[in-house]
Amino acid sequence: MAARLLKRTGVSSEICERLKRQQIESCKDLLSLTTIEVMQAAGLSYQQTSVLLQTVSKAVAPPVTTALDLWKQNSDSCFSTSLPALDKLLRGGLPCGTITEVTGPSGCGKTQMCLMLSVLATMPKSEGGLDRSVIYIDTESAFSAERLVEIAQSRFPDYFSCKERVLQMAGRVHLFRELTCDDVVHRLEKLEEDIISKGAGLIILDSVASVVRKEFDTTLPGILMHRTNLLGHKASILKYLAHQFNIPVILTNQITTHLGDRECASSARADSGYVTAALGNTWSHSVNTRLIVQYVNAHQRQILIAKSSVAPFAVLNYTIKKQGICIDGNDNQETLYEGTDPGLQPIRVRTEFTSSLTGPVD
Ligand SMILES: Nc1ncnc2c1ncn2[C@@H]1O[C@H](COP(=O)(O)OP(=O)(O)O)[C@@H](O)[C@H]1O
Ligand SMILES: [Mg+2]
Repeated sequence: MAARLLKRTGVSSEICERLKRQQIESCKDLLSLTTIEVMQAAGLSYQQTSVLLQTVSKAVAPPVTTALDLWKQNSDSCFSTSLPALDKLLRGGLPCGTITEVTGPSGCGKTQMCLMLSVLATMPKSEGGLDRSVIYIDTESAFSAERLVEIAQSRFPDYFSCKERVLQMAGRVHLFRELTCDDVVHRLEKLEEDIISKGAGLIILDSVASVVRKEFDTTLPGILMHRTNLLGHKASILKYLAHQFNIPVILTNQITTHLGDRECASSARADSGYVTAALGNTWSHSVNTRLIVQYVNAHQRQILIAKSSVAPFAVLNYTIKKQGICIDGNDNQETLYEGTDPGLQPIRVRTEFTSSLTGPVD
């Protein structure tokens, strides 16, 4: 909320311009100042400043909503994944207005999932989509337009049999390649405008972990705290955007080695460590829903619901095919598993890689 731009709060454009010249753009920027400082920066009287501060404070104060209001909005509150078994567990799909993280080992299908969801978001509501565009922030240069089109045409052959629709779909996925932490933060800080101008109904950040882990050596003193603050800043912007526009935000995350033994984690264990989601415990609290993808064997993989406010711990087997992620078996398969703290949930990696778990612990 505090990241909201002043010009979206009803403050006149003249005052916004005056404040912007002094680098005061967001509600947080303004509300962090004393009344005197605001008077000077905006060139307003004490009374006018009080009115300005009241307007901005009201804009950032979360509105009171009743459970009844939310219940009535239920049909708009989820984004169907086109995977009925997963949607059923998540009571309709990925929740709008909140952050969903997909975490797992390299090559397990996180980007495939993002591409598949991008296709879906652009499709009409009658076809199960959102009929909106997508903002796709790619920090790993992993986005492939060819694969996006392949997934679209293989998954929905009837709908995408018409070339016009393929072109329209691809034209609605807006790609931003941001390869440093600063670039990602700048992009996120300016995203509100892009969401409005492009009519975005889905934000994807693939991945949140790669640039952060590359740039921050957490073995050095003080760096971990700096990184935690930066991640907190990113999370607060994304939460604000998700909430403000009531859209789903999907992030991907990587894995790390958690040192220490864990009795029930035998399948994911290697020597005295086990594999779990990267970026630590504080970060794991920032995401509302955590889906973990992991290997069963070279071909088969699993998706775990490791954190959700509506679904139990659950596991579904899947295979990656030409048409993207495909859940194996029928929709009524036995799915529950004994989960644990989502920040510590062990993740199964390919066994040939588990013997070299020597990377940084974060
Ligand atoms: N056209 C395709 N058909 C089947 N499987 C594919 C296809 N394209 C990619 N894959 C699978 O997707 C995997 C890569 O998934 P990806 O989403 O890039 O992983 P990551 O989790 O690292 O983001 C490959 O290892 C491959 O198994
Ligand atoms: Mg990827």
